Amino acid sequence: MRKYSLISLTLLLFAGSAFLSSCNPDEETPVVTVKPSDLSYTPNTVSIKEGSSATSSAPEVQGTAPISFSITTAPDAGGAITVDASTGVITVSETTAAGTYKVSVDASNSAGSTSFTDAFTVEVIAPINFTDDVAPIVSASCSPCHVDGGANTNYGVFANAESNANFIIDRIKRDEGSAGFMPLNGTKLSDADIATIEQWKEDGLKEN
Ligand code: HEC
Repeated sequence: MRKYSLISLTLLLFAGSAFLSSCNPDEETPVVTVKPSDLSYTPNTVSIKEGSSATSSAPEVQGTAPISFSITTAPDAGGAITVDASTGVITVSETTAAGTYKVSVDASNSAGSTSFTDAFTVEVIAPINFTDDVAPIVSASCSPCHVDGGANTNYGVFANAESNANFIIDRIKRDEGSAGFMPLNGTKLSDADIATIEQWKEDGLKEN
């Protein structure tokens, strides 16, 4: 019995040392590093209201890890749009000014760096405001009757339109020709104009 176990032990040691020598680090196959390629974000665009923030998904990218990321935007977002260097996730901060930004990404690893032009698009939408968006509609469709000194409130004046926003929305959404419909005896405002005035309320009834 004892004799057999000694033989087994010897065999085991022999096999073990043979295994260890086959793992000699000097004989490792060299690691091939591959430059970053095929970067993409899904979705590759984000659209937010001015004053809110957003983050992208992490990008898909090929190449040897670790890969680090940096970005530039056109136009320059003044540091309001940033990237996480290790994940590639793009953050749009709430200080980003309204506009459309094309984001180009540089992905780098030990093999080099690859630029991906316009890999992501950020759209920051300014809130609807009275001066630019609502006043022109009032002036075109309501002013003939709603003027200063007339019998009806002048909705071309911001404070008047602001305090009557709910009445205005109610009247312009009624069926054309029905009681109380505005513009009185006129044609219903376009869906786009009605949507603009409703969105003006959603966005907080801003003057400009
Ligand atoms: C042809 C003249 C005329 C036009 C154009 C017109 N209105 Fe009026 N509007 C009136 C008259 C008259 C009244 C008062 C009778 C009533 O309340 O229905 C009135 C009343 C209103 C009222 C109720 C509160 C108030 O001011 O008396 C609102 C709100 C209103 N209009 C909004 C509008 C809006 C918004 C437009 C443009 C999209 C518009 N109106 C276009 C004549 C007009």
